[in-house]
Amino acid sequence: MTDSLTLRRPDDWHLHLRDGAAMASVLPHTARQFGRAIVMPNLKPPVTQTASAVAYRERILAALPEGVRFEPLMTLYLTDNMPVDEIDRARDSGVIFGCKLYPAGATTHSDAGVTDIRKIDAVLARMAELGLTLQVHGEVTHEAVDIFDREQRFIDEVLAPCMQRHPKLKVVFEHITTRSAVEFVRSKPEGLAATITPQHLLYNRNEIFRGGIRPHFYCLPILKTESDRTALVEAATSGDPRFFLGTDSAPHARHTKENACGCAGMYSAHAALELYAIAFEQAGALEFLEGFASEFGADFYGLPRHEERIRLIRRDWAIPASYHFGDDEIVPMGAGLTLPWKLEIA
Ligand code: NCD
Ligand code: ZN
Ligand code: ZN
Repeated sequence: MTDSLTLRRPDDWHLHLRDGAAMASVLPHTARQFGRAIVMPNLKPPVTQTASAVAYRERILAALPEGVRFEPLMTLYLTDNMPVDEIDRARDSGVIFGCKLYPAGATTHSDAGVTDIRKIDAVLARMAELGLTLQVHGEVTHEAVDIFDREQRFIDEVLAPCMQRHPKLKVVFEHITTRSAVEFVRSKPEGLAATITPQHLLYNRNEIFRGGIRPHFYCLPILKTESDRTALVEAATSGDPRFFLGTDSAPHARHTKENACGCAGMYSAHAALELYAIAFEQAGALEFLEGFASEFGADFYGLPRHEERIRLIRRDWAIPASYHFGDDEIVPMGAGLTLPWKLEIA
């Protein structure tokens, strides 16, 4: 049995850091493992302008613990009214790496999102010209569509036609959750990749209802079937560079999840790499973790791979029941569980 695993320093290609005191609580968890992260723009109000993304980036850098090197890769939040020249400003800033499509109403803080993707065709065309990546939350939002079918319907009704209209656009299909999404990504020759979260590799939808309703397993897109989960595990552990790490770590204060109308999002930054390691080890594919976590995402975004290494060691440790989150607390993914892998902090 492998007792330690040395990896090139990984990056997180889908992360929610929030802002203010909440951000200061969660940022160290990410920055101690990951060299860079694609930072999601779904703040309140959303980060729709280059100037606000640049200011947000400064706040993140200012909140980093002493001596920690971490590079936030910023994104803009697409709205129906995004001016095309905002894309030029984003590109010129040098710190913005993509624009995020939140279909209006699809997920946390998406009410300002796009109501119909055709409304932003001119913006997408400019992104394709300038090489900015489109990151998508891939779910349709019509009330009539079953929550478990929303990703599949998004592929058929929104993503596939959009990619046909913009064949040069680079797209990351974020936090994929279904066998159909895996097959769709595999069917495309280039320009399309997908991120996969630890929760979608480790759990299926039974987990939300195991012995009662468990709000800390509620995220969007919602956990799917066992067949979907195994397809995701196969994709992540196959060495196919189109699938890479994006935690979608999405902290919400405990009382907003343990609530009659609980928020969507799971917090995984406290143990992200260790959680992925469990999924890869269960699949007998630990040797594929490094590509997924530390290489394929950087290659897709055209950024250098890190030269630094980190080490996971086989050592049991218990995930705490909660962590501080500004003046609140968060319940982390795997609260109370004992994990077999621990990140060694230099
Ligand atoms: C995310 C959040 O809380 O910001 N929640 C989630 O369930 N994944 C938003 C998102 O990524 O869709
Ligand atoms: Zn999302
Ligand atoms: Zn997310």
